[in-house]
Amino acid sequence: MKIIQLSDLHLTRAPDAELFGSSPLTRLERAIDSILAAHADADFCLLTGDLADAGSDAAYAALAATLARLPMPAHLLPGNHDDRAALHRQFPQLPADAGGFLQRTLATPAGRFLLLDTVEAGAPWGSYCAARQAWLAQQIAASGDAALWIAMHHPPLALGIPSMDQFALRDAEALWSLIAPHRARIRHLFFGHLHRPIGGSWRGIPFSCPSSPNHQVALDLATLRGDEVPGCREPAGYAVILVDDDSVVVHHQQLFNGETSFWL
Ligand SMILES: [Fe+2]
Repeated sequence: MKIIQLSDLHLTRAPDAELFGSSPLTRLERAIDSILAAHADADFCLLTGDLADAGSDAAYAALAATLARLPMPAHLLPGNHDDRAALHRQFPQLPADAGGFLQRTLATPAGRFLLLDTVEAGAPWGSYCAARQAWLAQQIAASGDAALWIAMHHPPLALGIPSMDQFALRDAEALWSLIAPHRARIRHLFFGHLHRPIGGSWRGIPFSCPSSPNHQVALDLATLRGDEVPGCREPAGYAVILVDDDSVVVHHQQLFNGETSFWL
């Protein structure tokens, strides 16, 4: 199975406006061009939040038009910059749980994906309230002994970047208590929010995060200055995930300005 992960697109209200020196829509188009050229055979595309920079109908309409170029299904999750209502207006087919949270499960040949909505409206950090926890408990109970995969916007752990660690998931212990008994069948955790390629493990669960197609967070392991986040001009990108019975490989495809590949 091949999965594409795109995260933190930050599409602007005026679809062709720039954000931090580049157009998020143009950057997304470039990522889509790359996916079509090299990964049109992917089973699905996972978009882990911050689809819009300031959650507007215009941004989501532009997103819908752009994603329509992809031959594979695209599964969307919200991030802290998104607006659930506007997102749902432009993607009315997006399933929601009984509480209106944009979370659901996805059955795949490699197991069941748990697509979690970690947004706390108006806050940059993530939350996972009792209502969402109850939904997740039900989904895990109904999953039998299937392999589990988790995808969400916010990381449930600190990653050593203080400016972003303050905006991680705040209900990580509650989430952990739900998934810990099933640790052995959880194959991977995908998140976004960090705007840089990161991999590791959380209490034994492997995780990864891709670059943003537009702007990156600097690898600054020291500075905490209020709610400011240090940005940087490292390459944009997305992740290509290869899944086999006994392996999960996460490739980070970087996107450069006008450069082409060559044979070594
Ligand atoms: Fe973001």
